[in-house]
Amino acid sequence: MFKTNFLKKKLNNFLKLYSRKPIKNNFSGMRLEHCYALYSILKKINPTNVIESGVWKGQTTWLIRKSLKSAKIFSIDTDLNQREFLLNNVNYLNKDITQYDWSNLNKKKTIIIFDDHICFSKRINFLLKNKFKHIIFDDNLPNNFTSYYTPKMVYEKQILVKKEYINYYNLKRLFVFFLNYFLFKKYRKKIKVYFFSKYLVIKHRPYFNKQLKKKMNEFRKKISLYYEFPPIIKFNINKRFKKLKNKYKINLSNFKYKTKSPITDKSFFKNKKKYLDEMSIQYGNICYIRLK
Ligand SMILES: C[S@@+](CC[C@H](N)C(=O)[O-])C[C@H]1O[C@@H](n2cnc3c(N)ncnc32)[C@H](O)[C@@H]1O
Repeated sequence: MFKTNFLKKKLNNFLKLYSRKPIKNNFSGMRLEHCYALYSILKKINPTNVIESGVWKGQTTWLIRKSLKSAKIFSIDTDLNQREFLLNNVNYLNKDITQYDWSNLNKKKTIIIFDDHICFSKRINFLLKNKFKHIIFDDNLPNNFTSYYTPKMVYEKQILVKKEYINYYNLKRLFVFFLNYFLFKKYRKKIKVYFFSKYLVIKHRPYFNKQLKKKMNEFRKKISLYYEFPPIIKFNINKRFKKLKNKYKINLSNFKYKTKSPITDKSFFKNKKKYLDEMSIQYGNICYIRLK
């Protein structure tokens, strides 16, 4: 979709725009690497309509408008009260994307940006039924690093294995866990528990069945392009999952976390050190999918 040289050449221009972002700390939202991906993909596809699912403080809504001056934007969040930055020429909506009628939009000119932390398996029927063609999915993490299906897992035919970690000092979470464990046989049957010296791990039974398999197969057949945007500099798994590493002392080098080759390296930021801090902290294989 993009040549690495092209992305490197355009990066400086983007940084100028990014330095004017309205939300200074977009913790929980898109940071530099995913903002660059979003900006580049939007410019390339140049859609007439954008549906954004997951607004949070409003950073990505700002970026969509900056990338596409005249696009019609629908920005959805089930809690619009979190917005700190609002735009006049945006249609803000507060129900889930599946609750609206999108039949009037030309799907060849419409892109959906999913950044709402909803399991992708719950979006497949909606996307196929409404014949959407262009999709961006933000937190496109691989198995073991998220609790829901992502396009990456569907594309790579992976079966979701959900793991929860509970520290022994987290008495509240421990109490809730044991309560459920002893009270509900159904819950007990669905999980396996592993005890380690400082924490326990709850491994859930893989979330998969015939119906889901059929739905995923159907979706895969419709994909004409699946593209993961590369990290800007070499991905650092220890930085990205620092919390997991420090809190539970997990050796992350055991996980083969694959990303595309980076766009550039640290030397690019010689005189722009502040951007280096933002690298890898949020990168999660953001992708663009084109459907037939
Ligand atoms: C990661 S934040 C979005 C960040 C934003 N795109 C940014 O980078 O500036 C996720 C948002 O999804 C919202 N959300 C949760 N469920 C949703 C749903 N079903 N539809 C739309 N938004 C939802 C949450 O309220 C939250 O604000």
